[in-house]
Amino acid sequence: MIDYKHEPFTDFSKQENKDMVAEGIKVVQEYFGQDFPLVINGERIMTKDKSTVYNPAKKEEIIGYMSQATQKEADKAMDVALETFKSWRNYSFEFRADVLFKAAAIVRKRKAEFTALLIKEAGKPWNEADADVAEGIDFLEYYGRLHLELKNGKKVESRPGEYNQFHYIPLGVGMVISPWNFAFAIMAGTTAAALVSGNTVLLKPSSSTPVVAYKFIEVLEEAGLPNGVVNFIPGSSREIGDYLVDHKDLSFVSFTGSRDVGVRIYERAAVVHEGQVNLKRVIAEMGGKDTIVVDSGVDLDKAADAVVASAFGFSGQKCSACSRVIALEDIHDELLEKVVEKTKELTVGDPETGAYMGPVIDEASIKKIGEYIEIGKKEGKLEVGGNIDNETGHFVYPTVFSGLKHDDRLMQEEIFGPVVGFAKAKDFDQAIEFANDTDYGLTGAVITTSRERMEQARRDFHVGNLYFNRGCTGAIVGYQPFGGFKMSGTDSKAGGPDYLLLHMQGKTTSEMF
Ligand code: NAD
Ligand code: ALA
Repeated sequence: MIDYKHEPFTDFSKQENKDMVAEGIKVVQEYFGQDFPLVINGERIMTKDKSTVYNPAKKEEIIGYMSQATQKEADKAMDVALETFKSWRNYSFEFRADVLFKAAAIVRKRKAEFTALLIKEAGKPWNEADADVAEGIDFLEYYGRLHLELKNGKKVESRPGEYNQFHYIPLGVGMVISPWNFAFAIMAGTTAAALVSGNTVLLKPSSSTPVVAYKFIEVLEEAGLPNGVVNFIPGSSREIGDYLVDHKDLSFVSFTGSRDVGVRIYERAAVVHEGQVNLKRVIAEMGGKDTIVVDSGVDLDKAADAVVASAFGFSGQKCSACSRVIALEDIHDELLEKVVEKTKELTVGDPETGAYMGPVIDEASIKKIGEYIEIGKKEGKLEVGGNIDNETGHFVYPTVFSGLKHDDRLMQEEIFGPVVGFAKAKDFDQAIEFANDTDYGLTGAVITTSRERMEQARRDFHVGNLYFNRGCTGAIVGYQPFGGFKMSGTDSKAGGPDYLLLHMQGKTTSEMF
Protein backbone atom coordinates (compact mmCIF):
# COMPACT_ATOMS: atom_id res chain seq x y z
CA MET A 1 0.00 0.00 0.00
CA ILE A 2 1.08 3.58 -0.65
CA ASP A 3 2.35 4.99 2.66
CA TYR A 4 -0.46 5.66 5.07
CA LYS A 5 -0.36 7.36 8.46
CA HIS A 6 -3.39 8.30 10.47
CA GLU A 7 -4.41 11.94 10.77
CA PRO A 8 -2.80 13.45 13.89
CA PHE A 9 -5.05 14.69 16.68
CA THR A 10 -5.14 18.38 17.48
CA ASP A 11 -3.43 19.63 20.64
CA PHE A 12 -6.00 21.93 22.21
CA SER A 13 -3.62 23.13 24.90
CA LYS A 14 -2.15 25.38 22.18
CA GLN A 15 -3.83 28.75 21.80
CA GLU A 16 -3.70 28.65 17.98
CA ASN A 17 -5.78 25.45 18.04
CA LYS A 18 -8.28 26.92 20.48
CA ASP A 19 -8.57 29.88 18.11
CA MET A 20 -9.17 27.45 15.26
CA VAL A 21 -12.26 26.04 16.99
CA ALA A 22 -13.55 29.57 17.64
CA GLU A 23 -13.09 30.34 13.94
CA GLY A 24 -14.90 27.12 13.00
CA ILE A 25 -17.82 28.05 15.23
CA LYS A 26 -18.12 31.41 13.45
CA VAL A 27 -18.19 29.62 10.08
CA VAL A 28 -20.91 27.15 11.05
CA GLN A 29 -23.04 29.76 12.79
CA GLU A 30 -23.28 31.54 9.44
CA TYR A 31 -25.42 28.72 8.10
CA PHE A 32 -27.36 27.81 11.23
CA GLY A 33 -31.11 28.01 10.94
CA GLN A 34 -31.10 27.46 7.18
CA ASP A 35 -33.19 24.97 5.24
CA PHE A 36 -31.13 22.10 3.85
CA PRO A 37 -32.09 20.11 0.74
CA LEU A 38 -31.93 16.51 -0.40
CA VAL A 39 -29.40 15.99 -3.19
CA ILE A 40 -30.40 13.61 -5.96
CA ASN A 41 -28.31 13.50 -9.13
CA GLY A 42 -26.73 16.77 -7.98
CA GLU A 43 -30.13 18.46 -7.92
CA ARG A 44 -31.07 20.26 -4.68
CA ILE A 45 -34.58 19.28 -3.68
CA MET A 46 -36.23 21.21 -0.87
CA THR A 47 -39.22 19.35 0.58
CA LYS A 48 -42.10 20.97 2.45
CA ASP A 49 -41.76 18.59 5.36
CA LYS A 50 -38.55 19.25 7.32
CA SER A 51 -37.00 17.92 10.50
CA THR A 52 -35.57 20.34 13.05
CA VAL A 53 -31.95 19.74 13.91
CA TYR A 54 -30.81 21.28 17.20
CA ASN A 55 -27.81 21.49 19.49
CA PRO A 56 -28.28 18.89 22.26
CA ALA A 57 -26.33 21.10 24.66
CA LYS A 58 -28.55 24.12 23.97
CA LYS A 59 -31.92 22.90 22.84
CA GLU A 60 -32.92 26.35 21.64
CA GLU A 61 -30.05 26.61 19.18
CA ILE A 62 -31.30 25.42 15.80
CA ILE A 63 -28.66 23.94 13.55
CA GLY A 64 -31.01 23.77 10.59
CA TYR A 65 -34.16 22.39 9.03
CA MET A 66 -33.53 19.28 7.00
CA SER A 67 -35.69 18.26 4.04
CA GLN A 68 -37.23 14.82 4.37
CA ALA A 69 -37.37 12.31 1.53
CA THR A 70 -40.64 10.48 1.03
CA GLN A 71 -41.07 7.31 -1.01
CA LYS A 72 -41.40 9.51 -4.10
CA GLU A 73 -37.90 10.98 -3.66
CA ALA A 74 -36.58 7.57 -2.57
CA ASP A 75 -37.80 6.14 -5.89
CA LYS A 76 -36.22 9.00 -7.78
CA ALA A 77 -32.92 8.46 -5.95
CA MET A 78 -33.05 4.73 -6.72
CA ASP A 79 -33.69 5.38 -10.44
CA VAL A 80 -30.77 7.81 -10.58
CA ALA A 81 -28.47 5.43 -8.68
CA LEU A 82 -29.36 2.55 -11.02
CA GLU A 83 -28.73 4.68 -14.10
CA THR A 84 -25.49 6.19 -12.77
CA PHE A 85 -24.16 2.75 -11.83
CA LYS A 86 -23.96 1.90 -15.55
CA SER A 87 -21.20 4.48 -15.99
CA TRP A 88 -19.66 4.73 -12.50
CA ARG A 89 -18.79 1.03 -12.42
CA ASN A 90 -16.53 1.60 -15.45
CA TYR A 91 -14.56 4.57 -14.11
CA SER A 92 -10.91 3.77 -13.48
CA PHE A 93 -9.73 2.73 -10.03
CA GLU A 94 -7.45 5.79 -10.07
CA PHE A 95 -10.32 8.19 -10.72
CA ARG A 96 -12.38 6.78 -7.91
CA ALA A 97 -9.48 6.75 -5.45
CA ASP A 98 -8.53 10.32 -6.41
CA VAL A 99 -12.03 11.52 -5.47
CA LEU A 100 -11.41 10.17 -1.96
CA PHE A 101 -7.91 11.65 -1.72
CA LYS A 102 -9.17 15.05 -2.83
CA ALA A 103 -12.13 14.83 -0.44
CA ALA A 104 -9.69 14.11 2.41
CA ALA A 105 -7.66 17.19 1.45
CA ILE A 106 -10.78 19.38 1.39
CA VAL A 107 -11.94 18.14 4.80
CA ARG A 108 -8.44 18.77 6.17
CA LYS A 109 -8.69 22.36 4.91
CA ARG A 110 -12.16 22.70 6.45
CA LYS A 111 -11.24 20.86 9.65
CA ALA A 112 -12.13 23.76 11.94
CA GLU A 113 -15.59 23.95 10.40
CA PHE A 114 -16.27 20.19 10.61
CA THR A 115 -14.97 20.06 14.18
CA ALA A 116 -17.18 22.98 15.19
CA LEU A 117 -20.19 21.44 13.48
CA LEU A 118 -19.77 18.20 15.46
CA ILE A 119 -19.43 20.19 18.69
CA LYS A 120 -22.72 21.90 17.90
CA GLU A 121 -24.77 19.26 16.07
CA ALA A 122 -23.67 16.13 17.97
CA GLY A 123 -22.70 17.74 21.30
CA LYS A 124 -19.13 16.43 21.05
CA PRO A 125 -16.38 17.73 23.30
CA TRP A 126 -13.53 19.28 21.32
CA ASN A 127 -11.18 16.29 21.44
CA GLU A 128 -13.97 13.90 20.45
CA ALA A 129 -15.10 16.14 17.58
CA ASP A 130 -11.51 16.43 16.39
CA ALA A 131 -11.06 12.65 16.55
CA ASP A 132 -14.30 12.12 14.61
CA VAL A 133 -13.10 14.42 11.80
CA ALA A 134 -9.64 12.81 11.84
CA GLU A 135 -11.20 9.36 11.55
CA GLY A 136 -13.29 10.50 8.58
CA ILE A 137 -10.13 11.77 6.85
CA ASP A 138 -8.43 8.46 7.66
CA PHE A 139 -11.24 6.44 6.07
CA LEU A 140 -10.95 8.51 2.87
CA GLU A 141 -7.18 8.15 2.71
CA TYR A 142 -7.14 4.48 3.65
CA TYR A 143 -9.97 3.27 1.41
CA GLY A 144 -8.52 5.22 -1.54
CA ARG A 145 -5.23 3.35 -1.11
CA LEU A 146 -6.95 0.02 -0.54
CA HIS A 147 -8.98 0.45 -3.71
CA LEU A 148 -5.83 1.02 -5.78
CA GLU A 149 -4.43 -2.23 -4.41
CA LEU A 150 -7.42 -4.12 -5.81
CA LYS A 151 -6.99 -2.71 -9.31
CA ASN A 152 -5.43 -5.84 -10.77
CA GLY A 153 -7.47 -8.25 -8.71
CA LYS A 154 -5.61 -11.12 -7.07
CA LYS A 155 -3.23 -13.64 -8.56
CA VAL A 156 -4.59 -17.01 -9.66
CA GLU A 157 -2.79 -19.84 -11.46
CA SER A 158 -3.11 -20.68 -15.18
CA ARG A 159 -2.39 -24.00 -16.87
CA PRO A 160 -0.58 -24.16 -20.25
CA GLY A 161 -2.83 -22.75 -22.99
CA GLU A 162 -5.04 -20.99 -20.52
CA TYR A 163 -5.07 -17.45 -19.04
CA ASN A 164 -7.02 -17.03 -15.83
CA GLN A 165 -7.77 -13.75 -14.15
CA PHE A 166 -9.54 -12.83 -10.96
CA HIS A 167 -10.91 -9.31 -10.58
CA TYR A 168 -13.21 -7.42 -8.27
CA ILE A 169 -16.26 -5.64 -9.63
CA PRO A 170 -18.88 -3.59 -7.78
CA LEU A 171 -22.24 -4.85 -6.58
CA GLY A 172 -24.70 -2.17 -7.71
CA VAL A 173 -26.79 0.24 -5.67
CA GLY A 174 -26.10 0.29 -1.93
CA MET A 175 -27.94 1.97 0.89
CA VAL A 176 -25.76 3.54 3.58
CA ILE A 177 -27.52 4.04 6.91
CA SER A 178 -25.40 5.81 9.51
CA PRO A 179 -25.68 6.68 13.23
CA TRP A 180 -25.31 10.05 14.94
CA ASN A 181 -22.53 9.13 17.34
CA PHE A 182 -19.75 9.24 14.74
CA ALA A 183 -21.81 11.60 12.65
CA PHE A 184 -18.91 12.40 10.36
CA ALA A 185 -16.48 9.47 10.48
CA ILE A 186 -18.91 6.57 10.13
CA MET A 187 -21.17 8.39 7.68
CA ALA A 188 -18.22 9.42 5.50
CA GLY A 189 -16.34 6.13 5.89
CA THR A 190 -19.24 3.86 4.98
CA THR A 191 -20.20 6.11 2.06
CA ALA A 192 -16.62 6.32 0.81
CA ALA A 193 -16.11 2.55 0.92
CA ALA A 194 -19.31 1.94 -1.02
CA LEU A 195 -18.63 4.52 -3.71
CA VAL A 196 -14.91 3.92 -4.22
CA SER A 197 -15.68 0.26 -4.87
CA GLY A 198 -17.70 1.38 -7.91
CA ASN A 199 -21.18 1.25 -6.42
CA THR A 200 -23.74 4.00 -6.37
CA VAL A 201 -25.18 5.05 -3.06
CA LEU A 202 -28.36 6.13 -1.32
CA LEU A 203 -27.18 7.87 1.83
CA LYS A 204 -29.65 8.09 4.71
CA PRO A 205 -27.89 9.77 7.64
CA SER A 206 -29.19 9.88 11.19
CA SER A 207 -32.00 12.37 11.69
CA SER A 208 -30.11 13.84 14.68
CA THR A 209 -27.05 14.79 12.62
CA PRO A 210 -27.90 15.27 8.93
CA VAL A 211 -26.28 18.69 8.44
CA VAL A 212 -22.70 17.41 8.74
CA ALA A 213 -23.66 14.75 6.18
CA TYR A 214 -24.95 17.43 3.82
CA LYS A 215 -21.62 19.25 4.21
CA PHE A 216 -19.84 16.02 3.26
CA ILE A 217 -21.92 15.86 0.06
CA GLU A 218 -20.57 19.34 -0.78
CA VAL A 219 -17.05 18.02 -0.23
CA LEU A 220 -17.59 15.04 -2.53
CA GLU A 221 -18.93 17.32 -5.25
CA GLU A 222 -15.95 19.64 -4.94
CA ALA A 223 -13.69 16.58 -5.09
CA GLY A 224 -15.12 15.76 -8.51
CA LEU A 225 -17.57 12.98 -7.75
CA PRO A 226 -19.99 12.75 -10.68
CA ASN A 227 -23.62 13.56 -9.97
CA GLY A 228 -25.82 10.63 -9.06
CA VAL A 229 -23.09 8.48 -7.49
CA VAL A 230 -24.13 9.47 -3.97
CA ASN A 231 -27.73 10.52 -3.49
CA PHE A 232 -28.48 12.22 -0.21
CA ILE A 233 -31.87 11.25 1.16
CA PRO A 234 -32.38 12.00 4.83
CA GLY A 235 -35.88 11.02 5.84
CA SER A 236 -37.98 9.28 8.40
CA SER A 237 -37.12 5.62 8.84
CA ARG A 238 -40.82 4.83 8.98
CA GLU A 239 -41.35 6.41 5.55
CA ILE A 240 -38.29 5.28 3.61
CA GLY A 241 -36.30 2.87 5.83
CA ASP A 242 -38.09 -0.42 5.28
CA TYR A 243 -39.21 0.77 1.85
CA LEU A 244 -35.67 1.00 0.51
CA VAL A 245 -34.27 -1.97 2.42
CA ASP A 246 -37.03 -4.08 0.82
CA HIS A 247 -36.45 -2.60 -2.65
CA LYS A 248 -35.91 -5.26 -5.29
CA ASP A 249 -33.16 -3.22 -7.00
CA LEU A 250 -31.02 -2.68 -3.91
CA SER A 251 -27.83 -4.77 -3.89
CA PHE A 252 -26.53 -4.11 -0.39
CA VAL A 253 -27.11 -2.29 2.86
CA SER A 254 -24.28 -0.84 4.91
CA PHE A 255 -25.80 -0.19 8.31
CA THR A 256 -24.27 1.09 11.53
CA GLY A 257 -26.55 1.56 14.51
CA SER A 258 -28.48 -0.24 17.19
CA ARG A 259 -29.00 -3.96 17.51
CA ASP A 260 -32.79 -3.77 17.11
CA VAL A 261 -32.64 -1.82 13.86
CA GLY A 262 -29.70 -3.86 12.56
CA VAL A 263 -31.48 -7.15 13.15
CA ARG A 264 -34.63 -5.80 11.52
CA ILE A 265 -32.65 -4.76 8.42
CA TYR A 266 -30.81 -8.09 8.33
CA GLU A 267 -34.08 -10.02 8.39
CA ARG A 268 -35.86 -7.83 5.85
CA ALA A 269 -32.95 -7.82 3.44
CA ALA A 270 -33.01 -11.61 3.37
CA VAL A 271 -36.47 -11.65 1.77
CA VAL A 272 -36.35 -11.95 -2.03
CA HIS A 273 -39.00 -9.81 -3.71
CA GLU A 274 -40.59 -10.24 -7.10
CA GLY A 275 -38.26 -9.12 -9.87
CA GLN A 276 -35.21 -9.13 -7.60
CA VAL A 277 -32.07 -10.52 -9.24
CA ASN A 278 -29.46 -10.13 -6.50
CA LEU A 279 -29.28 -11.60 -3.02
CA LYS A 280 -28.76 -8.50 -0.88
CA ARG A 281 -25.66 -8.28 1.21
CA VAL A 282 -25.87 -6.72 4.62
CA ILE A 283 -23.08 -5.13 6.58
CA ALA A 284 -24.52 -4.52 10.04
CA GLU A 285 -22.34 -2.98 12.73
CA MET A 286 -24.39 -2.77 15.91
CA GLY A 287 -24.21 -2.22 19.65
CA GLY A 288 -21.83 -3.24 22.40
CA LYS A 289 -21.65 -4.02 26.10
CA ASP A 290 -17.94 -3.68 26.48
CA THR A 291 -15.93 -4.89 29.44
CA ILE A 292 -12.62 -3.91 30.97
CA VAL A 293 -11.13 -6.75 33.02
CA VAL A 294 -8.71 -5.59 35.70
CA ASP A 295 -6.28 -8.16 37.05
CA SER A 296 -4.45 -8.17 40.40
CA GLY A 297 -1.06 -6.54 40.70
CA VAL A 298 -1.54 -3.77 38.15
CA ASP A 299 -1.06 -0.01 38.41
CA LEU A 300 -4.56 0.86 39.64
CA ASP A 301 -4.24 4.56 38.79
CA LYS A 302 -3.60 3.70 35.18
CA ALA A 303 -6.41 1.13 35.22
CA ALA A 304 -8.81 3.72 36.67
CA ASP A 305 -7.78 6.24 33.99
CA ALA A 306 -8.52 3.65 31.29
CA VAL A 307 -11.95 2.90 32.78
CA VAL A 308 -12.92 6.56 33.18
CA ALA A 309 -11.83 7.57 29.66
CA SER A 310 -13.54 4.56 28.06
CA ALA A 311 -16.73 4.91 30.07
CA PHE A 312 -17.23 8.67 29.94
CA GLY A 313 -15.53 9.92 26.76
CA PHE A 314 -18.38 11.41 24.67
CA SER A 315 -20.70 10.57 27.57
CA GLY A 316 -20.38 6.84 26.96
CA GLN A 317 -22.13 7.21 23.60
CA LYS A 318 -19.77 4.91 21.75
CA CYS A 319 -20.47 1.34 20.72
CA SER A 320 -16.97 0.69 22.10
CA ALA A 321 -17.58 2.42 25.46
CA CYS A 322 -16.73 0.58 28.66
CA SER A 323 -19.98 -0.11 30.49
CA ARG A 324 -18.80 -3.07 32.59
CA VAL A 325 -15.76 -3.46 34.79
CA ILE A 326 -14.90 -6.94 36.03
CA ALA A 327 -12.24 -6.60 38.70
CA LEU A 328 -10.47 -9.33 40.61
CA GLU A 329 -11.60 -9.43 44.24
CA ASP A 330 -8.32 -8.36 45.83
CA ILE A 331 -8.05 -5.07 43.88
CA HIS A 332 -11.74 -4.36 43.34
CA ASP A 333 -12.35 -1.91 46.19
CA GLU A 334 -9.23 0.16 45.61
CA LEU A 335 -9.91 0.35 41.88
CA LEU A 336 -13.51 1.39 42.50
CA GLU A 337 -12.42 4.11 44.89
CA LYS A 338 -9.97 5.50 42.34
CA VAL A 339 -12.57 5.42 39.55
CA VAL A 340 -15.09 7.22 41.75
CA GLU A 341 -12.55 9.90 42.71
CA LYS A 342 -11.53 10.49 39.09
CA THR A 343 -15.17 10.57 38.01
CA LYS A 344 -15.91 13.32 40.52
CA GLU A 345 -13.26 15.47 38.83
CA LEU A 346 -14.96 15.38 35.40
CA THR A 347 -16.69 18.53 34.20
CA VAL A 348 -20.09 18.34 32.54
CA GLY A 349 -21.52 21.14 30.42
CA ASP A 350 -21.75 22.73 27.00
CA PRO A 351 -18.84 21.24 25.07
CA GLU A 352 -18.33 24.54 23.29
CA THR A 353 -16.97 25.90 26.56
CA GLY A 354 -14.49 23.04 26.83
CA ALA A 355 -16.33 20.75 29.31
CA TYR A 356 -14.97 17.18 29.43
CA MET A 357 -18.44 15.71 29.01
CA GLY A 358 -21.18 17.25 26.90
CA PRO A 359 -24.83 16.28 26.55
CA VAL A 360 -26.42 13.06 25.42
CA ILE A 361 -28.08 13.26 22.08
CA ASP A 362 -31.82 13.66 22.68
CA GLU A 363 -34.91 13.30 24.88
CA ALA A 364 -35.19 9.58 24.12
CA SER A 365 -31.62 9.04 25.36
CA ILE A 366 -32.27 10.99 28.55
CA LYS A 367 -35.35 8.86 29.20
CA LYS A 368 -33.60 5.56 28.48
CA ILE A 369 -30.50 6.38 30.54
CA GLY A 370 -32.72 7.64 33.40
CA GLU A 371 -34.57 4.32 33.40
CA TYR A 372 -31.30 2.39 33.60
CA ILE A 373 -30.10 4.58 36.47
CA GLU A 374 -33.23 3.54 38.37
CA ILE A 375 -32.59 -0.12 37.51
CA GLY A 376 -29.00 0.30 38.70
CA LYS A 377 -30.18 1.68 42.05
CA LYS A 378 -32.20 -1.51 42.56
CA GLU A 379 -29.54 -3.91 41.32
CA GLY A 380 -26.46 -2.32 42.89
CA LYS A 381 -25.11 0.65 44.80
CA LEU A 382 -24.92 4.12 43.26
CA GLU A 383 -21.36 5.34 43.97
CA VAL A 384 -21.39 8.64 42.09
CA GLY A 385 -23.55 10.52 39.56
CA GLY A 386 -27.05 9.41 38.73
CA ASN A 387 -28.28 12.95 38.24
CA ILE A 388 -29.81 14.39 35.10
CA ASP A 389 -30.23 17.99 33.99
CA ASN A 390 -32.56 18.33 31.03
CA GLU A 391 -33.21 22.07 31.24
CA THR A 392 -31.14 23.84 28.60
CA GLY A 393 -29.57 20.68 27.20
CA HIS A 394 -29.63 16.91 27.68
CA PHE A 395 -27.07 16.35 30.44
CA VAL A 396 -26.46 13.13 32.35
CA TYR A 397 -23.70 13.14 34.98
CA PRO A 398 -21.09 10.38 34.90
CA THR A 399 -22.44 7.50 36.92
CA VAL A 400 -20.78 4.53 38.61
CA PHE A 401 -22.59 1.56 40.16
CA SER A 402 -20.94 -1.12 42.28
CA GLY A 403 -22.10 -4.37 43.83
CA LEU A 404 -23.55 -5.71 40.60
CA LYS A 405 -23.69 -9.29 39.40
CA HIS A 406 -22.24 -9.78 35.94
CA ASP A 407 -25.64 -10.91 34.69
CA ASP A 408 -27.68 -8.01 36.10
CA ARG A 409 -29.57 -5.97 33.51
CA LEU A 410 -27.23 -3.04 34.01
CA MET A 411 -24.36 -5.35 33.05
CA GLN A 412 -26.12 -6.93 30.07
CA GLU A 413 -28.10 -4.30 28.16
CA GLU A 414 -26.64 -1.46 26.08
CA ILE A 415 -27.41 1.83 27.86
CA PHE A 416 -25.46 4.12 25.52
CA GLY A 417 -24.79 6.76 28.13
CA PRO A 418 -22.30 7.63 30.89
CA VAL A 419 -23.06 4.69 33.15
CA VAL A 420 -20.57 2.03 34.18
CA GLY A 421 -21.11 -0.97 36.48
CA PHE A 422 -18.62 -2.88 38.62
CA ALA A 423 -18.70 -6.62 39.43
CA LYS A 424 -16.13 -8.84 41.18
CA ALA A 425 -14.53 -12.05 39.93
CA LYS A 426 -12.82 -14.57 42.19
CA ASP A 427 -10.04 -15.29 39.69
CA PHE A 428 -8.93 -14.50 36.14
CA ASP A 429 -10.74 -17.49 34.59
CA GLN A 430 -13.98 -16.28 36.09
CA ALA A 431 -13.30 -12.70 34.96
CA ILE A 432 -13.03 -13.86 31.33
CA GLU A 433 -16.11 -16.06 31.74
CA PHE A 434 -18.10 -13.05 33.06
CA ALA A 435 -16.68 -10.76 30.37
CA ASN A 436 -17.89 -13.15 27.66
CA ASP A 437 -21.30 -13.62 29.17
CA THR A 438 -23.20 -10.97 27.18
CA ASP A 439 -25.00 -11.09 23.84
CA TYR A 440 -22.47 -8.65 22.44
CA GLY A 441 -18.86 -9.05 21.34
CA LEU A 442 -17.53 -5.72 20.18
CA THR A 443 -14.62 -4.41 22.26
CA GLY A 444 -12.93 -5.38 25.48
CA ALA A 445 -9.76 -4.64 27.39
CA VAL A 446 -7.61 -6.54 29.84
CA ILE A 447 -5.30 -4.78 32.26
CA THR A 448 -2.70 -7.24 33.47
CA THR A 449 1.02 -7.65 33.97
CA SER A 450 0.89 -11.36 33.24
CA ARG A 451 1.92 -12.50 29.77
CA GLU A 452 0.16 -15.81 30.35
CA ARG A 453 -3.14 -14.14 31.18
CA MET A 454 -2.78 -11.87 28.18
CA GLU A 455 -2.41 -14.92 25.94
CA GLN A 456 -5.35 -16.59 27.66
CA ALA A 457 -7.50 -13.52 26.95
CA ARG A 458 -6.23 -13.30 23.37
CA ARG A 459 -7.51 -16.84 22.90
CA ASP A 460 -10.68 -16.81 25.02
CA PHE A 461 -12.05 -13.26 25.32
CA HIS A 462 -14.49 -13.30 22.41
CA VAL A 463 -14.64 -9.74 21.08
CA GLY A 464 -13.81 -8.23 17.71
CA ASN A 465 -11.43 -5.63 19.19
CA LEU A 466 -9.42 -6.66 22.23
CA TYR A 467 -6.99 -4.24 23.86
CA PHE A 468 -4.31 -4.87 26.49
CA ASN A 469 -3.24 -2.38 29.15
CA ARG A 470 -5.32 0.49 27.78
CA GLY A 471 -8.98 1.44 27.44
CA CYS A 472 -11.42 -0.14 25.00
CA THR A 473 -12.29 2.84 22.77
CA GLY A 474 -10.48 4.71 20.03
CA ALA A 475 -9.69 2.26 17.23
CA ILE A 476 -7.59 3.88 14.51
CA VAL A 477 -8.32 3.31 10.82
CA GLY A 478 -5.69 1.13 9.21
CA TYR A 479 -4.19 0.23 12.61
CA GLN A 480 -7.02 -1.43 14.55
CA PRO A 481 -9.69 -2.66 12.09
CA PHE A 482 -13.01 -2.29 13.85
CA GLY A 483 -16.06 -4.55 14.13
CA GLY A 484 -17.72 -6.96 16.48
CA PHE A 485 -18.83 -10.54 17.01
CA LYS A 486 -22.15 -12.00 18.19
CA MET A 487 -24.97 -9.44 18.38
CA SER A 488 -22.50 -6.63 17.77
CA GLY A 489 -22.73 -7.30 14.07
CA THR A 490 -21.27 -8.88 10.98
CA ASP A 491 -17.66 -8.11 11.96
CA SER A 492 -17.06 -6.05 8.84
CA LYS A 493 -13.82 -4.59 10.24
CA ALA A 494 -14.16 -1.01 9.09
CA GLY A 495 -10.77 0.54 8.45
CA GLY A 496 -9.26 -2.88 7.80
CA PRO A 497 -7.66 -4.57 4.80
CA ASP A 498 -10.72 -6.69 3.90
CA TYR A 499 -13.39 -4.01 4.23
CA LEU A 500 -13.79 -2.98 0.60
CA LEU A 501 -14.27 -6.59 -0.50
CA LEU A 502 -17.62 -6.57 1.29
CA HIS A 503 -18.75 -4.01 -1.28
CA MET A 504 -17.51 -5.96 -4.31
CA GLN A 505 -17.84 -9.34 -5.98
CA GLY A 506 -15.04 -11.43 -7.44
CA LYS A 507 -15.17 -12.26 -11.15
CA THR A 508 -13.12 -15.04 -12.69
CA THR A 509 -12.31 -14.98 -16.40
CA SER A 510 -10.58 -17.85 -18.18
CA GLU A 511 -9.30 -17.58 -21.72
CA MET A 512 -8.03 -20.46 -23.87
CA PHE A 513 -5.38 -19.85 -26.50
P1 NAD B 1 -30.26 3.59 15.43
O1 NAD B 1 -30.28 2.13 15.16
O2 NAD B 1 -31.39 4.18 16.15
O3 NAD B 1 -30.18 4.37 14.05
C1 NAD B 1 -29.13 4.13 13.12
C2 NAD B 1 -29.60 4.57 11.74
O4 NAD B 1 -30.64 3.69 11.33
C3 NAD B 1 -30.18 5.98 11.71
O5 NAD B 1 -29.76 6.63 10.53
C4 NAD B 1 -31.67 5.73 11.67
O6 NAD B 1 -32.37 6.77 11.03
C5 NAD B 1 -31.73 4.46 10.84
N1 NAD B 1 -32.93 3.64 10.97
C6 NAD B 1 -33.73 3.46 12.05
N2 NAD B 1 -34.73 2.59 11.76
C7 NAD B 1 -34.55 2.19 10.47
C8 NAD B 1 -35.24 1.31 9.60
N3 NAD B 1 -36.33 0.64 9.97
N4 NAD B 1 -34.78 1.15 8.34
C9 NAD B 1 -33.69 1.82 7.93
N5 NAD B 1 -32.99 2.68 8.70
C10 NAD B 1 -33.41 2.87 9.97
O7 NAD B 1 -28.86 3.89 16.13
P2 NAD B 1 -28.30 5.29 16.64
O8 NAD B 1 -29.05 5.70 17.85
O9 NAD B 1 -28.19 6.27 15.50
O10 NAD B 1 -26.80 4.91 17.03
C11 NAD B 1 -26.46 4.33 18.24
C12 NAD B 1 -26.31 2.83 18.09
O11 NAD B 1 -25.35 2.57 17.08
C13 NAD B 1 -25.77 2.17 19.35
O12 NAD B 1 -26.44 0.96 19.54
C14 NAD B 1 -24.31 1.94 19.01
O13 NAD B 1 -23.72 0.88 19.74
C15 NAD B 1 -24.37 1.65 17.55
N6 NAD B 1 -23.11 1.91 16.87
C16 NAD B 1 -22.37 0.83 16.46
C17 NAD B 1 -21.15 1.04 15.84
C18 NAD B 1 -20.30 -0.11 15.38
O14 NAD B 1 -19.37 0.11 14.62
N7 NAD B 1 -20.58 -1.33 15.82
C19 NAD B 1 -20.67 2.34 15.67
C20 NAD B 1 -21.46 3.41 16.08
C21 NAD B 1 -22.68 3.18 16.69
N1 ALA C 1 -14.30 3.19 16.31
C1 ALA C 1 -14.76 3.78 17.52
C2 ALA C 1 -13.92 3.35 18.69
O1 ALA C 1 -13.08 2.51 18.55
C3 ALA C 1 -16.19 3.45 17.77
O2 ALA C 1 -14.10 3.86 19.75
